[in-house]
Amino acid sequence: MRSMTIQTLRGTADLLGEELLRWERIEQQSRQIARRYGYQELRTPILEDATLFQRSIGETTDIVQKEMFLFEDRGGKPIVLRPEGTSAIVRAYLEHNLHKTVGFSKLFYLGPMFRAERPQAGRLRQFHQIGAEAIGSSSPWVDAELIVLCMELIRAAGVTRTTLWLSSMGCRDDQRRSAETLRAALQPHRPKLCETCQGRMEKNVFRVLDCKRPADRELAWSIAGKGVFTRCAGCQEHFDAVRKALTSLGIPFDDTQLFARGLDYYTRTVFEVKAEGLGSQDAVAAGGRYDLLVEELGGPSTGAIGFAAGIERLMMAAQAGAPPSAQPARAGLYLALATPTLIGDAFRLVHTLRRQGLDAIMDYDGKSLKAQLREADKLSIRYVAIFGEEELRQQMLTVKDLAQGQSRQQQIPLTRVMETLTPHTSC
Ligand code: HAM
Repeated sequence: MRSMTIQTLRGTADLLGEELLRWERIEQQSRQIARRYGYQELRTPILEDATLFQRSIGETTDIVQKEMFLFEDRGGKPIVLRPEGTSAIVRAYLEHNLHKTVGFSKLFYLGPMFRAERPQAGRLRQFHQIGAEAIGSSSPWVDAELIVLCMELIRAAGVTRTTLWLSSMGCRDDQRRSAETLRAALQPHRPKLCETCQGRMEKNVFRVLDCKRPADRELAWSIAGKGVFTRCAGCQEHFDAVRKALTSLGIPFDDTQLFARGLDYYTRTVFEVKAEGLGSQDAVAAGGRYDLLVEELGGPSTGAIGFAAGIERLMMAAQAGAPPSAQPARAGLYLALATPTLIGDAFRLVHTLRRQGLDAIMDYDGKSLKAQLREADKLSIRYVAIFGEEELRQQMLTVKDLAQGQSRQQQIPLTRVMETLTPHTSC
């Protein structure tokens, strides 16, 4: 029986070649930029206790109700593949007593997240986030600094045509008041809503605002727009201070729209960054304040804010706005064997060059010299060093520079390969 080929699961993807290099660049740049803003990296496990997300994201959210990859371990404990980073970072902040030892902590993370959503362009089941969380301060300056960091990471990834949507959801009292007003306003229209939204009316009426059914969403927004959301004086003051700080740095934003976030932990500042050219899944990053979450997860009462950017969406948006990619830069050295019996000497030589810091590869399958040269060219290698009886006798390599055309070649003593080629060979 012919065996069937096995492919990646829907909503997941392999990462290789040029795409992987671009991906690594985004990760490296983000780490550097986050460090410049005083954010330290924290890595949390991919597997977490399911209760964490039920308590933090909210029981009535789509993520918790339908989208978590949830299973029981052998002891019957509910485990999830983490659907987001914020809750895990707060758990780690408390578990490692950072609230007692450090207090105000600025934490950075990146890695895979998992949501069992219906896959489409820009919406995956395993996706990757770059995120930052500032835990232990309620200052609006922290909001502004974090938003600036978010915008800088997005720009460094090559995404330039973006809009920063900024709003404030107010405190829990404001939200309770707004929920009551929204519920009352929606009541006469209740029969028109889908069954899920009818249930949401009691449990969490804000979720109607991000219902997957456009008719429900539009109805709720047409009502919500009419002054349903009000903020208390303290929340208004906080929002004004964030806007003023951003304006002082020349960061443009649009605060004319209200928007719903799909997670329940938010209070006060919320924001989303949308990029042009991405279609319906156009949020490249999003975040906001969650001033009650640390306490709800068993810590002290303390303010916090964060954001996460989706790496896949950043890559798509950067591509949408970028010119066609240039030829990859040539790098490294290919040691081509002119005499197959010298494979042992070549093996040792490549090992020595690598230990000296050169990117070096060779062939192990007895390819002809011509085939080796072809392979080096295909792999975008910069130098081909030919190694045969004559070279071994003279302790030399004949080196061709493929970036300069194959006619340019030079003889380099084995002891000087590193110093002659290094300025050109680092990837
Ligand atoms: P979120 O809005 O659920 O927020 O996700 C943040 C970003 O992750 C989105 O803007 C998007 O770029 C990316 N993303 C989310 N879901 C998917 C998916 N299924 N496929 C591809 N990309 C996706 C959070 O996760 C919050 N933890 C953000 C936050 C941090 N709030 C405070 N701190």
